[in-house]
Amino acid sequence: MEEPVPASPASLPVPPVLLETRPEDGTMPGADARYTKTLGDLAGLYRDTAAFEAALAADSGAPVYWVESSTPEQGEGALTVGLSVMEPGTIGEEFYLTRGHLHRNAGRAEVYYGLSGHGVILMDSLQGESHALEIGPGQAVHIPGHWVHRSVNVGTTRLATLFAYAADAGQDYELIARAGGMRQLVVRDGDGWRTRPNPDHTGYRHD
Ligand SMILES: [Fe+2]
Repeated sequence: MEEPVPASPASLPVPPVLLETRPEDGTMPGADARYTKTLGDLAGLYRDTAAFEAALAADSGAPVYWVESSTPEQGEGALTVGLSVMEPGTIGEEFYLTRGHLHRNAGRAEVYYGLSGHGVILMDSLQGESHALEIGPGQAVHIPGHWVHRSVNVGTTRLATLFAYAADAGQDYELIARAGGMRQLVVRDGDGWRTRPNPDHTGYRHD
């Protein structure tokens, strides 16, 4: 009997990548991409526009959050793995947050693993459900497909998370803006946080 010959790929697989997470200085050696967001990039994200304008007037232009990521290959099954870092702060009663999105390929899932700091992953379904799950060192939030999601830094130090999602997930950043924001706000509550309904939210719709 001849041994069955395993199917061989048409070309060599891409080399593996070593990624080092350095939450203390907010970098991930081994990454192949980086983007940063300053306060000026985040106009329209916060309800308290007067507080936002005041913060912007006093702003140094330093990044509020940034992402370093690794996407060594494309195609079905490929992963993007990255480090997300967000400074602590508030605009009015709201904590600093990421713009948030629904994956364009909406069924694509994502995982966040807490490295440092204290955050909340805010998630909305298009059908009307909302969840706010805490994330800190050693905790992972596993986001199944079809959830609108964003991160919020509810702590007093940088929030650093490691994330992974399908490289072909894509991001629809306009959905939340068209809906007047996500369904819940994450606001200060003494030394902690709570959610409260966002009165500006008008429901999610695909235009
Ligand atoms: Fe995502």
